[in-house]
Amino acid sequence: MCGIVGAVSLRDVTPMLTESLYHLEYRGYDSCGIAIIKNGELHRIRGTKRISELQKKIQKNNLHGISGIAHTRWATHGSPNINNAHPHFSGFSSKNASIAIVHNGIIENHEVLRKNLSKIGYRFKSQTDTEVLAHLINYFYNGDILKAVQQTIQHIKGKYAIAVFCKKEPNRIVGARNGSPLVIGIGKNENFLASDNVALIPFTKKFIYLEDTEIVDLTPNNISIFNTNGIKINKKIQIEAINSDVNELGIHQHYMEKEIFEQPKIIRRLLKNIKSIHPELFGYQAPNIFEKIDSVLILGCGTSYYSGMIAKYWIESIAKIVTSVEIASEYRYRDTIPNPNTLIVIISQSGETADTLSALKHAKDLGMKNILSICNVATSSIVNASMLSYITQAGLEVSVASTKSFTSQLFSLFLLTLVLAKLKNRLTKNQENLFLTDLKCLPKSIESIFSMRKDIEKWGRYFACKKNIFLLGRGVHYPIALEGALKFKEICYIHAEAFQSSEMKHGPLALITKNTPIIIIAPKDKLIEKLKSNIQEIKVRAGELHIITDSNNFNIQKNINFLKISETCNSLSPILYGITFQLLAYQAAVFRGTHIDKPRNLAKSVTVE
Ligand code: F6R
Repeated sequence: MCGIVGAVSLRDVTPMLTESLYHLEYRGYDSCGIAIIKNGELHRIRGTKRISELQKKIQKNNLHGISGIAHTRWATHGSPNINNAHPHFSGFSSKNASIAIVHNGIIENHEVLRKNLSKIGYRFKSQTDTEVLAHLINYFYNGDILKAVQQTIQHIKGKYAIAVFCKKEPNRIVGARNGSPLVIGIGKNENFLASDNVALIPFTKKFIYLEDTEIVDLTPNNISIFNTNGIKINKKIQIEAINSDVNELGIHQHYMEKEIFEQPKIIRRLLKNIKSIHPELFGYQAPNIFEKIDSVLILGCGTSYYSGMIAKYWIESIAKIVTSVEIASEYRYRDTIPNPNTLIVIISQSGETADTLSALKHAKDLGMKNILSICNVATSSIVNASMLSYITQAGLEVSVASTKSFTSQLFSLFLLTLVLAKLKNRLTKNQENLFLTDLKCLPKSIESIFSMRKDIEKWGRYFACKKNIFLLGRGVHYPIALEGALKFKEICYIHAEAFQSSEMKHGPLALITKNTPIIIIAPKDKLIEKLKSNIQEIKVRAGELHIITDSNNFNIQKNINFLKISETCNSLSPILYGITFQLLAYQAAVFRGTHIDKPRNLAKSVTVE
C-alpha cells in the first residue's frame, strides 16, 4: 500500500529518496513520484511504471536537492495515472507551486473541502483526496509550514500520514499522522520521515515512532515533535538492528521462495526463548490478565484470520476455553455482546492493517481491555495499542503473499494455547512435554516438506494450467484449505475454492465434473475414515482427485494422485500442510509466469479500509 519517504539534509537527497522507494516497493503500488526543491523551485517527477523507470527519469532530468519527499501510491481515490500520482502541489500553476505533499490514508471529508476550496479559486488537477490537503495547507500558509499543517489538521476527518514541505522554507519538512504509520529516522546532519522503517534501513538505525495526532518538524539538525495541543514533547529514540541485506534475494528467484525456505530458521529462533511454558512469554502482565479471562475472541484479516481459525480448534480442544474468531472488518460494524473477561487476540503480520487496528479500538471502546497482539512488527500501531504482545520474529516479509508470517503466527498461537491450558490447570506435565517435543520437531519436519520439492513442483506444473481448483479439508485442516485457496488466487490468479469435505453433498458436488481438480487434505486423524467416504462420493461422480496425506493407510487407487508427507508433529500438522500449499501455489505461479511477489491489485500492508 502507499509508502512515504522524506529527507532533509546538507547533501543531495535524491539518491537516498530513490533508494528508499525501492525499499517500499514490496508494499505494492501502481504509481510513484518524487518532489525536490532545486534552485528555489519545486520540481516533481512522477510515473506509473516501476521505480527503476522513475529513477531513469530523475537521472535524465538531473534532479538534485537538499530536501525532498517521495511516494509510492496504491490507488484509492482516483485511478492510477500520472495526475493522481503523488507528490501533489498547491499553487495556481505547478511552476509557482509552493506546497508539496505526500499522503497515505483517506481524507473522509475531502468532497466538501474540495467544493469550498474550488469556490475560493483553487483548481484541482487530480481526483485525489490528497490534493485537497495540499490546497488547504496552502490556504493556511503564512510563512510557517508547521502552523499551516497544524491548522489544516483541525479541518480534516479521516486517516493520514503526511510529509509536507514548502519552497519558501527549503530545508524543512513537516510530518503528521493519524491512523497511518509514520516514523522519523535520525541521521547525522540529516533527518528522515517514512511510513515504514524499512525504507530508511540504509541510512540510519535510530528511529522515533510517531503516535496518532502527533506532528513533527524536521530540519537537518533538529527534530521537534508536538502533541495534539501543539505542545512540544520528548519521545524515546529506538535503535533497530535491521540488517541492510534483509531485502536481498540471495540464491532465490523470488522473495516468496526465499521466505518459504526461511521458515525452519524462524521457528528455531522462536524456540530459543522457550525453555518451558509460562505466561510471561506474552508479557509481564500476562499472568494476571490470562488468569481472569473466561473466553477468547480472535480478530484478523486474510491469512491472519485463517491462523486465528486454526487457533480456535487448538484453544478449545487443549485449553478448553470458549473461543470465537471474526474477520476484523466485519466485527467492528456488527452489534456484539461485549464481555470484559474476554481475551482479545489481534493477529496481524504488519500491525498496520486498518481494519484490524479499527477492530482493536472498537473492542477497547466496548470495554474489552485485555488485548494481546500477535504481530511481526514490534513498533507497529497494533502492538502499540495492545496491553500484551507477542512478536513473531519472522523478519521483514517482502512478498505480498504471507508465508513465513502465517507459520510464525501459528507457532505463537499454539504457544498461547499451551500457556492458557497450563494456567487453567488443563495441561499435565506429561502433555506439556509432549507438546514441547512437537514444537521442537517442527523445523526438521518443515525441512522434510522441502525435501519433497521435486514432487510438489510436478504438481505445480500440473495445476498451473487449471482454471478452477477445489480444496477440501476437515476440522483444524479446513482453514488450511482456505489458506491454500487464497494462495492459488493471489499468486496464480487461479479460481480456487475451499470446502469442508463433509459439506460437498450439501451443494458444491454440483460443481464436480470430469475435469474438476480437487485437492484433499487427508491427515491421519480421527476423521480419516469419514474423509475416505467423502472421497468415494466425489470419485463416483468422476471428480479428479489429488490427495495430500501423512497416512500410510490409503489404498493407492487408479486415477488418484497422492503426495505423501512423512512427518506431522501431531497437533502442529496444519503448519506442515500449510507450507505444502505455499510451495505448491508458488510452483504453479512460477509455471504461469505471474508477478509472484507483487500480485496485481494487491498491497502488502493494507492501511486503508
Ligand atoms: C495473504 C495476505 C493477506 C494478509 C491480510 C492481513 O497472503 O497476505 O491476506 O494476511 O491482508 O494482513 P496483516 O496480517 O498484515 O494484518
